Amino acid sequence: MITIREWQTDDAKSLAYTLNNKVIMNNLRDGLPFPYTEKDALYFINLCLNADKNEQFNFAITYNGEVVGSIGATRQPNIHYKTAELGYYIGQPFWGKGITTAAVKQICSYVFENTDIIRIYAEPFARNTASCKVLEKAGFTYEGTLRANAVKNGIIEDMRMYSLIKE
Ligand SMILES: CC(C)(COP(=O)(O)OP(=O)(O)OC[C@H]1O[C@@H](n2cnc3c(N)ncnc32)[C@H](O)[C@@H]1OP(=O)(O)O)[C@@H](O)C(=O)NCCC(=O)NCCS
Repeated sequence: MITIREWQTDDAKSLAYTLNNKVIMNNLRDGLPFPYTEKDALYFINLCLNADKNEQFNFAITYNGEVVGSIGATRQPNIHYKTAELGYYIGQPFWGKGITTAAVKQICSYVFENTDIIRIYAEPFARNTASCKVLEKAGFTYEGTLRANAVKNGIIEDMRMYSLIKE
């Protein structure tokens, strides 16, 4: 069974084990420490627990009761206040089981049912086929490619814009 639930401080060990992986980090924004330790994980979990519940929607992803990943949506500032950006990752041993697709559907339902947000978007690197596939399977629309939109590990990257609009 796949669920999303609030983080708990005793998830720090599982989170550090999952995220301490360059293969995952190579697909995320910069700013995470590497190696990623249990102390780093606890810092993140405490940030989530203390965050404004109307701005940040962060959840642990569980698979058969075990924490295997992280998913979050963040409300955007200024004129974008009814828009949220989505991000996620899953521990490498759990890839390809449909876990993220299920988690994306669950968080989108949560955000649309419990907040005034009307647009959820994600911007995977264009090369990140698995993430693009997840978004398509979860009902997101591909809106276009943001050319040369980022530099990751010294390489200029295109990104793809996907969104889901509240019905
Ligand atoms: C992207 C990521 C979250 C996907 O998680 P996941 O739980 O494996 O995703 P799902 O199983 O729900 O779906 C993945 C789909 O992509 C497909 N896929 C994976 N790699 C692929 C590839 N190289 N080419 C084509 N399809 C691919 C899978 O077959 C699956 O599709 P299917 O169900 O039709 O077979 C996971 O790979 C990850 O954590 N990557 C590192 C972090 C990351 O990229 N985060 C997203 C940043 S935008």
